[in-house]
Amino acid sequence: MSSSAKLILNDQECEFPIIEGSEGEIGLSIRSLRGATGAITLDPGYGNTGSCRSAITFIDGEKGILRYRGYPIEELAQSSNFVEICHLLVHEELPNAPQLAEFTNLLTRHSMLHEDMKKFFEGYPKTAHPMSILSSMISSLGTFYAEDEDSLELNIIRLISKIPTIAALSYKKAIGQPAVYPRNDLDYTSNFLHMMFAVPAEAYEVPEVVAKALDMLLILHADHEQNCSTSTARMVGSSGASLFASISAAISALSGPLHGGANQKVIEQLKMIEADGGDFQKYVNKAKDKNDDFRLMGFGHRVYKNFDPRSRILKGEADKVLENLGVDDPLLGLAKSLEEIALEDEYFIERRLYPNVDFYSGIIYRAMGIPTEMFTVMFALGRLPGWIAHWKEMNGDPETRINRPRQIYTGATERCYVAVADR
Ligand code: ACO
Repeated sequence: MSSSAKLILNDQECEFPIIEGSEGEIGLSIRSLRGATGAITLDPGYGNTGSCRSAITFIDGEKGILRYRGYPIEELAQSSNFVEICHLLVHEELPNAPQLAEFTNLLTRHSMLHEDMKKFFEGYPKTAHPMSILSSMISSLGTFYAEDEDSLELNIIRLISKIPTIAALSYKKAIGQPAVYPRNDLDYTSNFLHMMFAVPAEAYEVPEVVAKALDMLLILHADHEQNCSTSTARMVGSSGASLFASISAAISALSGPLHGGANQKVIEQLKMIEADGGDFQKYVNKAKDKNDDFRLMGFGHRVYKNFDPRSRILKGEADKVLENLGVDDPLLGLAKSLEEIALEDEYFIERRLYPNVDFYSGIIYRAMGIPTEMFTVMFALGRLPGWIAHWKEMNGDPETRINRPRQIYTGATERCYVAVADR
């Protein structure tokens, strides 16, 4: 591999160093391009643009590989737990036993919300989307806790610890039930389920199978390198904005239907197909029709071009969880049939469109009793340690500069102002 690449622009030759990653990925460092030539690169959607070096997550989209700090996602999903993964992402290594005990203890101790924060929930309308509540509440954490450098590690704990409490409270508010406080004897995932589903009038025991499945879902969502919401966290943070502000912005980015919001849309779409008589072919045809802006939600990915390893795990898990819970959801059969038809279709084959992580996750959430509107919130709970890890990495990276892309201007050239009476 040569150490540099040459570009000839208007007979002027420029040389750019090649940067190689630890898995052999290569990039051209074009930092000197504009200074040397006056030109910039144009890459809408940043499909070929590396914004940073990162040691957190490796993805090989061709081979369907996903690893957090070197560990394959399949092994982590099978054998780890979400609290360990939070430690791995945020503190760079899997914790040993005393580290895990300390980290777990901290997360347990900080799960309550300041009582004054509960008042915010009274102001939201009943119809508020829980993702909007979540991003506002995370932003509001910054008004309760100092955001200086000395508080950073504690604020990280507060974020991971309080996000399930905020999420569950937004659900309770939506259904008009009183808040359920966290319990310190429960593990992270069980505690969230307790706050979601316990009611004061009844005893509630968290079903182990549900807690296990949710833990695995959170692990699968925990990081995905420079996706839209993570890049948002890094971009907002690059201006020096606080951790809470950056994570709040990432939550907003995640809410969109082309990103995390797709898991809600998948279920809504499957229900629509079911209500319309289950004619999948009609919807595959609609997705292929370039005059129709309908897309098959949960299909396609910027990076994965053969399969999404998370989706493979989830497809198998959906069968298991539904069977264990004794749930017979016709949407699972519908999803599998839709996948089969789409994967045999020339349009999807040519464009290398496969089910992504959102395609089967919603069916598992449904079986657990999580309402559709909360699906993207579940994604946010999972992705939080990834956002934090990237924010920290960005802040500690001497190469970081305020993120500020350029543009190719296509508007009017200079013209003279005309007074309103003369227009
Ligand atoms: N249904 C139908 N056609 C699709 C779909 C789809 N779900 N996804 C992509 N295509 C087509 C596009 O129309 C385009 O066709 P063309 O080349 O004829 O113009 C081609 O496939 C490439 O698609 P792009 O939109 O250019 O791919 P991009 O990498 O920009 O977008 C994305 C990726 C946003 C995920 C896209 O596939 C999509 O909209 N999928 C549905 C929404 C979804 O599931 N999002 C979740 C993604 S995973 C996550 O964020 C966790």
